[in-house]
Amino acid sequence: MNASKSIIIVGAGHMGSAIALGLKRSSPHFSITVVEHDVTCWSSVTSAGICILETMPELKKIEALILAIPPQTFLKHSKHFVKIQNYAGLIISVMAGITISELMRTLNTTQVCRAMPNVPCTLVEGMTVFCCATPTTKENHALAQSLFSGLGKWLFVKDEKLLDGATALVGGGPAYVAYFAASLLEYARTAGFNEASASYMVIQLLRGTTVMLEQSGETPVNLCQKVMTAKGTTEQAIKLFDDKQLRSIIVDGLNQACLRSKALAERI
Ligand SMILES: NC(=O)c1ccc[n+]([C@@H]2O[C@H](COP(=O)([O-])OP(=O)(O)OC[C@H]3O[C@@H](n4cnc5c(N)ncnc54)[C@H](OP(=O)(O)O)[C@@H]3O)[C@@H](O)[C@H]2O)c1
Repeated sequence: MNASKSIIIVGAGHMGSAIALGLKRSSPHFSITVVEHDVTCWSSVTSAGICILETMPELKKIEALILAIPPQTFLKHSKHFVKIQNYAGLIISVMAGITISELMRTLNTTQVCRAMPNVPCTLVEGMTVFCCATPTTKENHALAQSLFSGLGKWLFVKDEKLLDGATALVGGGPAYVAYFAASLLEYARTAGFNEASASYMVIQLLRGTTVMLEQSGETPVNLCQKVMTAKGTTEQAIKLFDDKQLRSIIVDGLNQACLRSKALAERI
């Protein structure tokens, strides 16, 4: 896609600014404007040289609009989005729990894509799962795909129901990995390492393991077995994790996140 495309991102919070910064970094053919009413959120976007406005501009020459505001705000104030309601281009929502039919009905359009990205988008290392409304044109589908490939990797799904699972897994995923990293750091400190050494080791551990999983094609369970020498040290740690059912606790946690995504759709 070589012709320049104009994109508006509504909301410069964690996700909106990650998308803006990722696209700015990876995709010079997108002209990006961010709309954010809270000027205290502007600095990360403006310091990257991205245009930011307090109110919605005219949308006539805009090819896509990305909604990155909290779902609760959307549900409460959608009637006030008058300019968006008359908008003819592609609307991409990254809001958790807001369904495609809800977006189509509220915004009075058929050109809708529901997506679930994550914050590593800012470094073009994101993962985005997306689904398009059935009437979405081929051109708009291609535009959505090209936006998401500018943010890292993407997965298109036909079944919208998968978006709740993607919200739990992909949207929230960096938090779970960071939570695990925090546990490793906590251990490193108690084992006597200073902050800098602890952080250096933990980050390389995560990176090395990810690269190994990606490049060897090995399953995580196999890799785990490989490191666990029989009657060795690692086996002791994994045995305790298994005794405490750590894996099922993690699956339960993600199920809770998925339920919350479904509840948002049902207005709970
Ligand atoms: N954070 C993530 O990792 C993540 C991942 C995937 C998807 N998401 C989705 O991304 C959306 C945003 O999440 P977030 O974490 O970025 O939230 P956030 O940090 O709270 O940012 C949302 C921003 O949007 C602003 N905003 C609200 N209404 C607006 C309007 N009408 N016009 C312009 N700006 C407006 C908010 O300002 P005020 O606070 O002043 O209202 C706030 O600065 C949510 O729907 C969430 O489900 C987030």
